[in-house]
Amino acid sequence: MPTQDNVKIAAPEGKLGVLIPGMGAVTSTFVAGVEAIKAGWAQPIGSLTQMATVRLGKRTDGRSPKIKDFVPLADLNDLVIGGWDIFEDNIYEAASKAGVLDKSDLERVKTPLSAIKPMKAVFDTDYVRRIHGPNIKEGGSKMDKAQAVMEDIRNFQKTTGASRLVMIWCGSTEVHHKPAEVHQSLKSFERGLAQNDPGIAPSQVYAYAALKLGVPHANGAPNLTCDVPAFLELARERQVPICGKDFKTGQTMMKTILSPGLKARMLGLKGWYSTNILGNRDGEVLDDPSAFKTKEETKLSVLEHILQPDLYPELYKDFYHMVRINYYPPRGDSKEGWDNIDIFGWMGYPMQIKIDFLCRDSILAAPLVLDLVLFMDLAQRAGMKGIQEWLSFYFKGPMTAPGLYPEHDIFIQLMKLKNTLRWMRGEDLITHLGLEYYD
Ligand SMILES: NC(=O)c1ccc[n+]([C@@H]2O[C@H](COP(=O)([O-])OP(=O)(O)OC[C@H]3O[C@@H](n4cnc5c(N)ncnc54)[C@H](O)[C@@H]3O)[C@@H](O)[C@H]2O)c1
Repeated sequence: MPTQDNVKIAAPEGKLGVLIPGMGAVTSTFVAGVEAIKAGWAQPIGSLTQMATVRLGKRTDGRSPKIKDFVPLADLNDLVIGGWDIFEDNIYEAASKAGVLDKSDLERVKTPLSAIKPMKAVFDTDYVRRIHGPNIKEGGSKMDKAQAVMEDIRNFQKTTGASRLVMIWCGSTEVHHKPAEVHQSLKSFERGLAQNDPGIAPSQVYAYAALKLGVPHANGAPNLTCDVPAFLELARERQVPICGKDFKTGQTMMKTILSPGLKARMLGLKGWYSTNILGNRDGEVLDDPSAFKTKEETKLSVLEHILQPDLYPELYKDFYHMVRINYYPPRGDSKEGWDNIDIFGWMGYPMQIKIDFLCRDSILAAPLVLDLVLFMDLAQRAGMKGIQEWLSFYFKGPMTAPGLYPEHDIFIQLMKLKNTLRWMRGEDLITHLGLEYYD
């Protein structure tokens, strides 16, 4: 039995509203899956909140409850989903166009999916260049648009009766964008909204609206969004949790699984060449070099942080790392990612590893959306505010406190996540020391 919770966690009473800017492939696959799971004909595969266990106490204690039985999470039946998109398609239509799920599966969830229609988006072609749609908020300043999003959120809450809300960005990747003067404080950001500062991206307009209303925000894309001082200030001021960036799926997930293993065995790396083909709308947006640059940054940073060339120059100094994404429409959402890894071992002898991952992007991303929504709601009910580093597990470019390097090793990230849950419930943290078994 838990001793004493370290934080007071309010019970997940009532409905949880999930607000999603961007209702394309990932969002529609997430919603379809939630409906299928609720109806009992699909399993929540890939979701820690639904399937994983957490070991408590000693190995001999035999206590390994499911995470969902250990911490109070919202029930899937209590989720209500809404969002925004530049296209008018309801989620059923969006899912049909995305082509991730079989038609026969989609037909089984057609009714609930058709009922979710996107609200008008805050959009700017300077930030997402390759797509154009009619469902957009026109006119007014960026502050007016932020107010309009707040109005949407209030209306959504009223019509659905949700008692709590979470926002998660599943919109397209915005062009590469560096923090500017306007992002340095909340005051300058608010002035920038009123003056239509070009440095404020649409994703930041949504995030501002959410945080202002005390709604937690997670970022599934590599966009800057909340990763600037103005948002850290706002999150602290409104006592809201935030996390991001860029769902860790596909090739980067494999990279953060494999590279800690190579490092654990002190095997060297000469080069890692990664290339992908994909043909969905995400691929089309990423075909724009400035959108790809945003993605490239999060994709490239993981090896550097895991392998620590400064600590291991003999093994990892100057390894060559390249990542390519090629838009190839015939593949649709069924991406293929190739990795060629040049490693070296004893006496410097070279070896190679080849990976050919025929993955489905949205199938890998959907459970992450579910977990993030449920964990962010938990964090909010537990009074945890600001950056939620324990959710790094889900991201290619985890947000951290300024000056702190991110942890990319998926196994350390998992340990951190589970230890945070143990800490919340007043259980002993697991160190794996284990000397007590040999006393
Ligand atoms: N699928 C994965 O494995 C994965 C992994 C990491 C990150 N991501 C990121 O998740 C996001 C969603 O991916 P996807 O495959 O669903 O893409 P998608 O293109 O199918 O969907 C994105 C949707 O966002 C909409 N959109 C763009 N700008 C918007 C705005 N300002 N407001 C509202 N809607 C807007 C688009 O119209 C589109 O429908 C992308 O940024 C992608 O890079 C996906």
